[in-house]
Amino acid sequence: MLKNIFGKSKKEKKSLKEQQNLSNNDLIPSHIAIIMDGNGRWAKKRALPRVAGHHEGMKTVRKIARCADDLGIKVLTLYAFSTENWKRPKSEVDYLMGLPEKFLKSFMPEIMERNIRVQMMGEKGALPTSTQTVLNEAMERTKNNSGLILNFAMNYGSRAEIVRAMKDIMVEVSKGNLNVDSIDESTITNYLMTSQLPEPDLLIRTSGEVRLSNFMLWQLAYTEFWFTDTLWPDFNEETLMEAIHAFQKRNRRYGGLKGEEIN
Ligand code: FPP
Repeated sequence: MLKNIFGKSKKEKKSLKEQQNLSNNDLIPSHIAIIMDGNGRWAKKRALPRVAGHHEGMKTVRKIARCADDLGIKVLTLYAFSTENWKRPKSEVDYLMGLPEKFLKSFMPEIMERNIRVQMMGEKGALPTSTQTVLNEAMERTKNNSGLILNFAMNYGSRAEIVRAMKDIMVEVSKGNLNVDSIDESTITNYLMTSQLPEPDLLIRTSGEVRLSNFMLWQLAYTEFWFTDTLWPDFNEETLMEAIHAFQKRNRRYGGLKGEEIN
């Protein structure tokens, strides 16, 4: 049923929350981060090359971006390429580096229509020039869009991000612009690549793996985690709703107690 709902006109979108039994009081996560895993296994199960799995995974990105937009989610961060993924065969790395162009070429009209803003986090300078160019163009073209932020983690590694933040902070200290005693958690947060984004409310990892793989280690401190055996190319609107419903049942206490528990 969901397939018939998503991707319809803006007017029909209004009924999406109702159709999913979500009232306005139901908590929709503002920021969902996803470790998209299982493309290779999806392809292997079909005796296809691994890159066929990545291609199918790209189609899932489109589907889930539409769904997130329809639900009014503010930020969708997708782990598309980690700093460790360079260890893969060159042919696979080349294919993955070409995916942003394939994706943006076909999806850009809808991105503009939906008012989606494309962003990326990661060490952009190490990406092939053509990948940098398409990402830069998409970010520039969508920079004034005020809807869903579609944030790709490309050549992203959380430890590298933290190291870079520490170095930047130390430079400011050495210049006398920052006092060591004034450094607190918010200082670190402000020097990360996500400084302009809220922290993720919900982290999803597909394919049955239960680890963080160097993804947003600082930012996920109070995030709710949801794991599924579903391989990323098979992930769809129903699976996303399953994750959101699970999130809504969680009791987020941020280390404290809720009113009824204090006694
Ligand atoms: C991990 O699965 C997946 C990746 C390293 C790549 C993820 C990329 C996409 C889903 C497409 C991104 C789209 C855009 C537009 C940038 P895996 O290959 O490790 O799977 P396996 O564990 O089954 O081998």
